[in-house]
Amino acid sequence: MASSNVAVIGLQWGDEGKGKIVDALARNCRYVTRFCGGANAGHTVLVGSDKYVLHLIPCGILTEGIVNIVGNGVVFDPAGAVQEIDGLRSRGVMVNGNNLKISTNAHMVMPWHKREDVLSEAKLSAGKKIGTTARGIGPCYADKARRSTAIRVGDLLDPEALGLKIRSVAAHKNELLAAMYGGEPMEPEIVVAEYTGYANKLSEMITNTGAILRKAISAGQRVLFEGGQGSMLDVDHGTYPFVTSSAVTACGIPSGAGIPPSAVGQIVGLIKAYTTRVGAGPFPTEQDNQTGQYLRDKGNEYGATTGRPRRCGWFDAAAVRYAADICGVNELALSLLDVLTGLDEIRICTGYRVGEDQIDEFDPALMNKAQCIYQTVKGWDEDITDCAEFDELPDQARQYVNTLESLLGRPIGFISVGPERSQTIVHNTRIEGLK
Ligand code: IMP
Repeated sequence: MASSNVAVIGLQWGDEGKGKIVDALARNCRYVTRFCGGANAGHTVLVGSDKYVLHLIPCGILTEGIVNIVGNGVVFDPAGAVQEIDGLRSRGVMVNGNNLKISTNAHMVMPWHKREDVLSEAKLSAGKKIGTTARGIGPCYADKARRSTAIRVGDLLDPEALGLKIRSVAAHKNELLAAMYGGEPMEPEIVVAEYTGYANKLSEMITNTGAILRKAISAGQRVLFEGGQGSMLDVDHGTYPFVTSSAVTACGIPSGAGIPPSAVGQIVGLIKAYTTRVGAGPFPTEQDNQTGQYLRDKGNEYGATTGRPRRCGWFDAAAVRYAADICGVNELALSLLDVLTGLDEIRICTGYRVGEDQIDEFDPALMNKAQCIYQTVKGWDEDITDCAEFDELPDQARQYVNTLESLLGRPIGFISVGPERSQTIVHNTRIEGLK
């Protein structure tokens, strides 16, 4: 029998509006699991007039009865998590060891990771800077791969051993950061005290999450895998080196959550009706002009994590096709369609010209030299934010959706026309139990 689990994966450069669709789909699931990235993510969910921005805690935390899992593939920043948990509790959201579980095997972001992230970016010359979120993501994953200097969430459960580990790694990192960047030393005892405090607050939530998920899946309980970032930022398949440091496509789910590949289930690819990117790197459809500014203003395109203005541009169907193929996307969810209202015409990139050659497959290695080939469709002026059915959309908006479906070769299951839970058109979804 096919798995009923569902994954929501961003197919662009992140910020596709995953929070809202995860929140909607989660209500039919028992578990919501993060499997990649860390506090670099920023998932915004609107519940009535209450706005929540989640960075590390899965969006299912806002729905009663869901067990939220921070999987082993995540780099876990306890400082950020404790702040987020306290913030949620202060707004009446229940968070405890029953509805939030953190993998013992997730690697822990330490103060030296954040410091190295900032210092190493500052040292890079213009054109080489990645424009990271400064959350210590890259240095933490680097330590995971290095092994000898890594500290994992499970280490919080043994305070004595944790203290020894922190003292030894801190001494090493102090030497390294001073030698490489002239960085000020960190006081190991302060770090020990800080992390002991986190251990006290989080230990009830730390557990073998892979085992919990495998058991749940065997029992037929439905799991939603919540992607972080976007596929074009994947460390292997994205626009390297201008990427994040983890496996963020659907291929990262089994290892980042500790479940078999066959259990991933339906894969929903999330796309924004245009494209944005934060940080440096190739962005073929970028509109560094009035159109870009229009999209930025109308879509409030400022980073949920860092507040940085996002770069904006037209929808890139060739890039999304590439990401959807890698992820094995079954259906799409289209967000922020309402932001396009008011444009005379809308352009969609269908392929590229590189020198004399025309290519229709996105290739990260060629994107610095690629010129976009565009298809232009007519825009619409009508307000679509109250449309509850596909048929209520203006002709041109429907035409835009149909054009995307045909260029991407997959059905669009959901269309979001506003930030609120209710502003979602259920369209061509095949996800069982949702139609
Ligand atoms: P890092 O993940 O902080 O190392 O940043 C690497 C690149 O990924 C930078 O260009 C960031 O702006 C980008 N990035 C990381 N996380 C997100 C996200 O959740 N949304 C959008 N961009 C992100």
